Amino acid sequence: MKTTMDTRACIRREYFAIFFFLAAAVSIIVLHNMEVLETTFQIQHKVNSTTIIVPRVSTVPDVHRGFCTFQPLSPKDALEERLLLDSIAWPKTPVLPAPLSLEKTSDPAHSSFTILPVRGGGQWHVGDQLEVRINMSDFQGRPKKSGGDFLLARLHNQKLGAGVVGHVVDHLNGSYSAVFSLPWEGDAQVEVTLVHSSEAVTVLNRLTSEQPDRIYFKSLFRSASFSETTICNVCLRPTKQPLCNYTDLRTGEPWFCYKPKKLSCDARINHAMGKYKQNLRAIEKKLFQSGVNLKVYLQASGPANVTVLPKKKGQSEVKSSSVKSGPSGYYYQGVWRALGGTTVRQFNNSTISQCLKGKEVHMYGDSTIRQWFEYLNAALPDLKEFNLHSLKQVGPFMALDYANNILVTFRCHGPPIRFPKVPTSELRYIANEIDGLTGGTNTVVVFGIWSHFSTFPMEIYIRRLQTIRRAVVRLLDRAPGTVVIIRTANPKALMLYETITNSDWYSLQRDKVLRAVFKGLKVHLIDAWEMVLAHHLPHSLHPQPPIIKTMMDLLLSYICPKNSG
Ligand SMILES: *[C@@H]1O[C@H](CO)[C@@H](O)[C@H](O)[C@H]1NC(C)=O
Ligand SMILES: *[C@@H]1O[C@H](CO)[C@@H](O)[C@H](O)[C@H]1NC(C)=O
Ligand SMILES: *[C@@H]1O[C@H](CO)[C@@H](O)[C@H](O)[C@H]1NC(C)=O
Ligand SMILES: *[C@@H]1O[C@H](CO)[C@@H](O)[C@H](O)[C@H]1NC(C)=O
Ligand SMILES: *[C@@H]1O[C@H](CO)[C@@H](O)[C@H](O)[C@H]1NC(C)=O
Ligand SMILES: *[C@@H]1O[C@H](CO)[C@@H](O)[C@H](O)[C@H]1NC(C)=O
Ligand SMILES: *[C@@H]1O[C@H](CO)[C@@H](O)[C@H](O)[C@H]1NC(C)=O
Repeated sequence: MKTTMDTRACIRREYFAIFFFLAAAVSIIVLHNMEVLETTFQIQHKVNSTTIIVPRVSTVPDVHRGFCTFQPLSPKDALEERLLLDSIAWPKTPVLPAPLSLEKTSDPAHSSFTILPVRGGGQWHVGDQLEVRINMSDFQGRPKKSGGDFLLARLHNQKLGAGVVGHVVDHLNGSYSAVFSLPWEGDAQVEVTLVHSSEAVTVLNRLTSEQPDRIYFKSLFRSASFSETTICNVCLRPTKQPLCNYTDLRTGEPWFCYKPKKLSCDARINHAMGKYKQNLRAIEKKLFQSGVNLKVYLQASGPANVTVLPKKKGQSEVKSSSVKSGPSGYYYQGVWRALGGTTVRQFNNSTISQCLKGKEVHMYGDSTIRQWFEYLNAALPDLKEFNLHSLKQVGPFMALDYANNILVTFRCHGPPIRFPKVPTSELRYIANEIDGLTGGTNTVVVFGIWSHFSTFPMEIYIRRLQTIRRAVVRLLDRAPGTVVIIRTANPKALMLYETITNSDWYSLQRDKVLRAVFKGLKVHLIDAWEMVLAHHLPHSLHPQPPIIKTMMDLLLSYICPKNSG
């Protein structure tokens, strides 16, 4: 009964999704046509005294990303980069015969999963592993012979408020396994989602190599009443237009703008996201259809749920995240239970105050970190935001609780950042900010940096993380008691535009790199990926309040572990 209702709600959601997809597609097509105009001709709009210069660039789609600037690496960092890139290599999809059609691409409606019986027979017990086999087929119903589909798997029981993420293994022959830990007793339902077909991943990969500038940025230059706006990026196509070089001297992070015609490079007053250029062929767009082949559930060929019996005598608890590919936690009764040895405490407004008494908490990153600042601001009755006259979306923000001597700050990470109008004076790199902290047992450093890097080559993200890591190592050397907490990426709602600019596939790949770069350091991770994926609420770039509370409870548990006051 319940299942039927869920299915119906799900189908209705899909209709909505299709409707919104169409609406979005129309606006993107309009946008697309505008972009073609803008990039084909050099145009100068005169709006008051503001001139927007858009240099003539090649629209040949096959330009290699050679126009991105990668800062040079030490031999050690270069080796690490090679190993990181190898570790995230995605299976190649065979080239499809032209003209491309959907027929031979992965179709969730023709694909299914099956729960494999317990090895050696018998029933499932808490602490066992459950294995699910997933067989993918194309739109003609033919089994796929190659891997590379992006699948997500979740085990859940909504009545128990329980959920855990499964580990997906690609057998590279069209079949996949999803392996789950079984942390709770009772019913457990399997959910398998095709996020992208392997063919869609191939397109996403190609977009990054050919159009790393498909999200572009701009800066306003001003002197007296005269102003000009130019395009900026770390991937700036070479033109006859000279460049302004804003490479950060301390971190070496590169950033460039086309030089304004009349004004000097020093006249740059802000940074903002420009627009989005899209160069997808019509057939390629068909690879990203909500309700068809973009984030669609697979059917089970057989039962989709199992009953888990109590733990067998003498059997160990559910394996922790130290076990390869095990989950980092799971929900039970709506509460996150971490498997890495941390006990997650439940904080209310007054225990948050007690925990943060005498501390300074510095948060750096994107809007998903800003959500945490906002949470603390709302939760602590005596924490008052100090008016720095910042733009609401941009920051920086500062909040003070004089009575309890608490300071909380937020600052966005340096470019590339898709925020509107960040003043040049407020463009800071996380590494430099961390270098500016004394640190100590009363200092908490929190950062999250991922979503604004999706459209760029991985090398740019790797370098950014390496510079941040160097700063974290310096901080922990000079002040070993400092608490450092890193937020991972998380899955989000995807339509065509979101996919091209910020797909979960881009996030997943970056997330793997993030975890590897900070592995072995005395830092704590908040596994936003699993917390969002394991939850029954829909995936969202900005997760909903219950998930934010989960993240904050873990964050505060790292700062104030049980029995330490
Ligand atoms: C020109 O500038 C004035 C004053 O700053 C502003 O009110 C007006 O909207 C601007 N016009 C355009 C077309 O942007
Ligand atoms: C998956 O496909 C293979 C090969 O066609 C078949 O042997 C196997 O039974 C299928 N497994 C499931 C779980 O459907
Ligand atoms: C694919 O590979 C897996 C693991 O090697 C194997 O169990 C499965 O039978 C294979 N499936 C097909 C369809 O060949
Ligand atoms: C930009 O400036 C940096 C730092 O001064 C320098 O190393 C780099 O070569 C410059 N790049 C270009 C393209 O001028
Ligand atoms: C699966 O779920 C259905 C409906 O909730 C229930 O009737 C059935 O007993 C469950 N099966 C197992 C094996 O738990
Ligand atoms: C907050 O939690 C603490 C400890 O669990 C409890 O003693 C206190 O009554 C709670 N305060 C409120 C306002 O709920
Ligand atoms: C407690 O915190 C919540 C946010 O978590 C906030 O909405 C609420 O107003 C706070 N209550 C008090 C008494 O400050």
